Amino acid sequence: MPVVRGKIIEPLFTPDVIAARNRAMATEIANNPKTDLLVISILKGSFIFAADLIRALHDAGLAPEVEFITLSSYGRGTTSQGVKIIKDIDSDVRGRDVLLIDDILESGRTLRFARDLMYERGAKDVEIAVLLDKHSRREGTLDANYVGFECPDYFVVGYGMDVAYAFRELPFVGVVKGDA
Ligand code: IMP
Ligand code: MG
Repeated sequence: MPVVRGKIIEPLFTPDVIAARNRAMATEIANNPKTDLLVISILKGSFIFAADLIRALHDAGLAPEVEFITLSSYGRGTTSQGVKIIKDIDSDVRGRDVLLIDDILESGRTLRFARDLMYERGAKDVEIAVLLDKHSRREGTLDANYVGFECPDYFVVGYGMDVAYAFRELPFVGVVKGDA
């Protein structure tokens, strides 16, 4: 098993498996007609997934504009949980089809916040694409339109995702198993 920074990381989704799934998702996305598509990558965790999915969208025949929004959760584990904007997009979303891209859909708070924000700003339609869905952790009802993989309830790292700022650079998604 790979050892990175002294930790054993068990791969869960390999680069080949992820790449094949990205191509299939891009085809699904392109099969639903889009008007003036704006893709918004939710930073930081989605940056690698978004980079790959956006290129797969090109291969599937789409020409989206690409934007970035940095969101952060606060009050995790307390009663006042919420999401705040750290850095906003620059583009106007009015009348446009928006595709939000995130790494993981867990409680749904982050993506619900982002989706509601884009509708409040006048988006015509907002779809959601996530690499991983931790369905067992959902609070309320929120589904992604496009899901890469159902994810077991482990804390995962790699392919853009971190634990304490580490492991974003891994080309696969894995689980930290302990010290090597
Ligand atoms: P939600 O708002 O509860 O749906 O949380 C989703 C966000 O939590 C994702 O965008 C990730 O940034 C983060 N997250 C949730 N689970 C994991 C994990 O297993 N590894 C890394 N980040 C995670
Ligand atoms: Mg995130």
